[in-house]
Amino acid sequence: MAAPHSANDAGKRAAAEAAAADPEIRDGMMVGLGTGTTVAFFLPALARRGLAGLTCVATSPATEAAARALGLTVTAFDETERLDVAVDGADQVAPDRWLVKGGHGAHTREKVVAAAADRFVVIATEDKLVERLRAPVPLELLRFGLASTLRAIGEQLGPLRLRDGAPPSPDGNVIADYLGDLPEPAAAAAALDAIPGLVGHGLFAPAMVAEVLIGESGGGVRRL
Ligand code: A5P
Repeated sequence: MAAPHSANDAGKRAAAEAAAADPEIRDGMMVGLGTGTTVAFFLPALARRGLAGLTCVATSPATEAAARALGLTVTAFDETERLDVAVDGADQVAPDRWLVKGGHGAHTREKVVAAAADRFVVIATEDKLVERLRAPVPLELLRFGLASTLRAIGEQLGPLRLRDGAPPSPDGNVIADYLGDLPEPAAAAAALDAIPGLVGHGLFAPAMVAEVLIGESGGGVRRL
């Protein structure tokens, strides 16, 4: 997962390198690795620190491959109860720290990893800052019962659509996007959580978030 080039690369790099340089990430820690183009700048910066005994868990096969290629130790996330820190990007960051995540379809794993971490650090650029969250909100759906799950979401919440041409989630599930109104993220999150067949959604509550680092195009970083 080489870091791709975009107009926002300077900001992504700045936020990612600030997160990797955090002295609270130390030898022997367990670190959760997110997924996406901002995380792609975090991985080499973390690897360059050469921390002894650092063990990572990855939220996607792409992140796992990239981390291993950089010499980071990656382990399965099935027998580890907690992580010291997790670092990940976001698609939207509201002033109250509600997030939308899942642009790359890994939001369910990302939420599991964020929830397991003592500190969940979000790295993002200024274009991700929004006054209030809005659609699309990524969804991960079981293929079993898919039409019925789509109907339930449509009837109970609002419009959605399958993500065209998207690969399955890291766990083989279907990716869709909720397209309806989002007046109250907590209510929408609760309603989505109550739909059987919906494996995970991309609304992340502020209580999960320890820190947000916003990388600026000039290379500066500010904390939300
Ligand atoms: C992955 O599924 C996402 O949650 C990403 O963290 C989010 O889409 C941000 O991605 P970029 O860093 O590529 O903008």
